[in-house]
Amino acid sequence: MKHSELEASALYRAWLQYDNVEHLAASTQYKQLLGQIVMSGDMSRSGISGTAVAELQQGVRSMLGLTPRVAPKLPSTSAYLSISVAAQDDSRHSQLHGEAFTLQYATDNEGQRLVLVGGSESGVLYGVFYLLRCISLGIDPQKLDVAEYPRNELRMINQWDNADGSIERGYAGNSIFYRDGKFIADQQRLKDYARLLASVGINAISINNVNVHEIETQFITVELLPDVARVADLFREYGIKLFLSVNFAAPLAVGGLATADPLDEDVQRWWRDTSSLVYKYIPDFGGFLVKADSEHRPGPFAYGRDHADGANMLARALEPHGGLVIWRCFVYNCMQDWRDRSTDRARAAYDHFMPLDGKFLDNVILQIKNGPMDFQVREPVSPLFGGLQSTNQMIEFQVTQEYTGQQRHLCYLVPQWKEVMDFNTFAPRMQEAETDSIGKKTKGTATEPRVKSIVGGSHFPMKHSGVAAVSNIGDDANWTGHTLAQVNLYGYGRLIWNPDLSAAEIAEEWAKLTFGSDSLVVETVCSMLLKSWEIYESYTAPLGVGWMVTPHYHYGPDVDGYEYSRWGTYHFADRDGIGVDRTAATGTGYAAQYFPPNAEMYESLDKCPDELLLFFHHVPYSHVLKSGKTVIQHIYDTRFAGAEEAERLLVVWKGMEGKVDESRYEQVAARLSEQAEHARHWRDVINTYFYRKSGVPDEHGRTIY
Ligand code: GCU
Repeated sequence: MKHSELEASALYRAWLQYDNVEHLAASTQYKQLLGQIVMSGDMSRSGISGTAVAELQQGVRSMLGLTPRVAPKLPSTSAYLSISVAAQDDSRHSQLHGEAFTLQYATDNEGQRLVLVGGSESGVLYGVFYLLRCISLGIDPQKLDVAEYPRNELRMINQWDNADGSIERGYAGNSIFYRDGKFIADQQRLKDYARLLASVGINAISINNVNVHEIETQFITVELLPDVARVADLFREYGIKLFLSVNFAAPLAVGGLATADPLDEDVQRWWRDTSSLVYKYIPDFGGFLVKADSEHRPGPFAYGRDHADGANMLARALEPHGGLVIWRCFVYNCMQDWRDRSTDRARAAYDHFMPLDGKFLDNVILQIKNGPMDFQVREPVSPLFGGLQSTNQMIEFQVTQEYTGQQRHLCYLVPQWKEVMDFNTFAPRMQEAETDSIGKKTKGTATEPRVKSIVGGSHFPMKHSGVAAVSNIGDDANWTGHTLAQVNLYGYGRLIWNPDLSAAEIAEEWAKLTFGSDSLVVETVCSMLLKSWEIYESYTAPLGVGWMVTPHYHYGPDVDGYEYSRWGTYHFADRDGIGVDRTAATGTGYAAQYFPPNAEMYESLDKCPDELLLFFHHVPYSHVLKSGKTVIQHIYDTRFAGAEEAERLLVVWKGMEGKVDESRYEQVAARLSEQAEHARHWRDVINTYFYRKSGVPDEHGRTIY
């Protein structure tokens, strides 16, 4: 599709529809206020400020049919929008750290105005997107009196895009970055992506797969750095810093050295020189993202070194330039023997990284997946959160729906992330906060040790922290394959800006921005979204045990697909029972990686929450859940109900015909119909498997094959 056609399509515009809203009551006032923009004299008209003004003009033109004029000084008109960056010594705004903003309505004898003050130009840009959201939602401008700031320092997206144009775990077409081994020259689409990301507050992006293949290994060489720099230039305009995933063995692969040993001086020099080179092309380069010693990727283990040796070596190379090393904790033995019941993949990240707590340099951040396994529909929270107390850290989520229906099934993930962010680790409390001369916290405050305050950097002393997630976009016209999956990208940005927003608030905001203010549509879409995670869970792997998917592709049921494999992902179902014993008393001991009372809760068969029962315990099929049902009956009941609910989603959506534009209506209807059919397949495969294993019939005598 041509870019002009894409731009005209509602599928493509996602939540930045900017439909005309002149019929809304608030619009008349916005029209009065937004005819003139007064920018404070010291603000530049290019870079991020330029982007902010252009976005404002475009949005206002499209929604209100007027183009704001930028005036250098106070206009004669009595209504305007004033935009400025807070002066360092402005006490009213001294609380504004860089990316914060205030937006207020003010009125006096001379007239009325909206006053937007950013902590920096990025703050201004976020304020502009906030204002555009208010216009589109019809919020009364006279009520505007907000002070907004992001709770997380790094708000990052990880692209798993490959230079050949494919996307690892991508379910929405091909890469918008690369094609056939080259960077795509036309950057229109990238620019539109940058807008979407900035509009929800994302400020960092890594642009290539963590599995760094041959061409991508060369991104840090003079041959390809000019291309990388062009992408960095574009994202910079939207306040987004660029990072690269690097190959730990790059000194061998492209440096002509005989080793990648982090303690080797030539290797160290090579990374120093390489870092200097990168910064010549990209002066504000973010840093390196590294997957090492994981799933056959090279790493320090090959040289008998540990991960602190590896990460710190890269950190020293980047430090003079202000760069960061983001080092992933997804490290486990992927060549396990299924016969060996003592090795537990869930333990691996904690076992590898806890002994290294405190050994990483200040510009290293450990990136930890939300759970101990791999983005399953249900997992406990990684015990590294709370465990690691003297190490910079960020959490990693997966917006792309690898294990949650691959954007063919509806699965709104914000409720899941929210549970993780709200999880109380019960890590022991720290002393009062101390700050250094520039106001950066060097000691944590005694907040509740929930994941959100740990990764938000307010609980433990951390120089850097934040959140990352694997993107769900590709070159499909609607970006995300399933049009309703756009909500996961939107929701990710909004939730990590402010983890106290509820999943329902985020869904509603998104639905209104995306589909307009028809309350029936908004209510319908929200109710579909809010049930969708539970529905997906109820026909796939039961009670937290995970997996049961087709190996490699991870779509569709294959109960024993991974049961006798090397990947460490088992359910251990036999004729008597199912589940993984991860207790300290009789199992792998994983439950003891948590602080009390979480450790006791998971250890105890009685206290362990039903939804995680089979993650922590091996139980007979006759085990009675808190719900009063046996495990086997729960499996049957939820699979039958889940498939029915999936079908209901389609029926409910059909009621939206004529209320939602045709392209989006049809697209979503097609996906939901595939989901309904596929949910029946899941239901029958899982039920049949467990009926045949256990021999226990369904109490209600429904059809099981
Ligand atoms: C999962 C996923 C891989 C990915 C890996 C990772 O295992 O299936 O494709 O490379 O996670 O996070 O590194």
